[in-house]
Amino acid sequence: LASIDVDVSAIEPGQAIKSVWRKQPIFIRNLTPQEIAEANAVPVSSLRDPQTLAERTKEGKANWLITMAVCTHLGCVPLGAAEGENKGEYGGYFCPCHGSHYDTAARIRKGPAPLNLEVPDYEFTSDTVVRIG
Ligand code: FES
Repeated sequence: LASIDVDVSAIEPGQAIKSVWRKQPIFIRNLTPQEIAEANAVPVSSLRDPQTLAERTKEGKANWLITMAVCTHLGCVPLGAAEGENKGEYGGYFCPCHGSHYDTAARIRKGPAPLNLEVPDYEFTSDTVVRIG
């Protein structure tokens, strides 16, 4: 299936958008410096699915957190991308179906989900356009 190009220039720090790729929702989030610092402050060995923020983003673009918007428990769409939505106890995303909390690197921190939100294959084709898939 085809890849998609998304213009991310209008996404301000602290904001996220939901897009759709291969019929599945994805989140594209512009992390604030504080959200990046929070993610980097977590001891990786304490995580259920140990990954650093750097492993989940592109070099030089740690603020762009791009993940599937599909909870790794049973596939609900987590909250937290839209303004005013519950971001959960760790400031990232919250899945209301059974209460999974993801942090600012979209890593699972609490609740039944076994894994971090999946990072799809993507690349930046310019400073403002990301190609997913
Ligand atoms: Fe997200 Fe169950 S589907 S917590």
